[in-house]
Amino acid sequence: MEACVYPGSFDPITKGHLDIIERAGVIFSTVYVGVLNNISKRCMFSVEKRVEMVKAATRHIKNIQVVSFDGLLVDLLKTLDARVIIRGLRTGTDLELEQQYAFINGKLLEGTETLALLSRPETHYISSTAVRELLAFHADVSDYVPEAILSMIDKGE
Ligand code: PNS
Repeated sequence: MEACVYPGSFDPITKGHLDIIERAGVIFSTVYVGVLNNISKRCMFSVEKRVEMVKAATRHIKNIQVVSFDGLLVDLLKTLDARVIIRGLRTGTDLELEQQYAFINGKLLEGTETLALLSRPETHYISSTAVRELLAFHADVSDYVPEAILSMIDKGE
């Protein structure tokens, strides 16, 4: 079995992300979760906090490593000596974007494969964007994010 990389902003990690990580962990020897340190995107949580939250939410998974990265995803793949990118698909809109990313990443680094896991019905409506919106209004997000990060969210950045 080989390793895979599951990249994302994880701002913050949701129950949907966690489901994808758990399922990828069954298929691959190691799941590297790549948390993007995105200079062009203003995140609600710092990259350190997002990494900490992913680690807290995934403590029960043995074959996972959480790393942050900036720059191109394919450079992270090279560093980790991995060729498979995992992405979760919720909607047709997701699919269109992922097709674009998959094509570009494949051109940037030959041999790169993107595998999409379909979101489960229970999580397909969850997004970090919606969670951030709820948090901005101090609304309850416990249905949408892993329990392990609830107390961390309360403490802010
Ligand atoms: O959780 P997100 O924000 O949907 O994740 C997007 C992510 C991190 C997968 C994507 O923005 C990414 O890979 N960024 C790194 C820059 C890069 O390699 N871009 C190439 C594709 S255009």
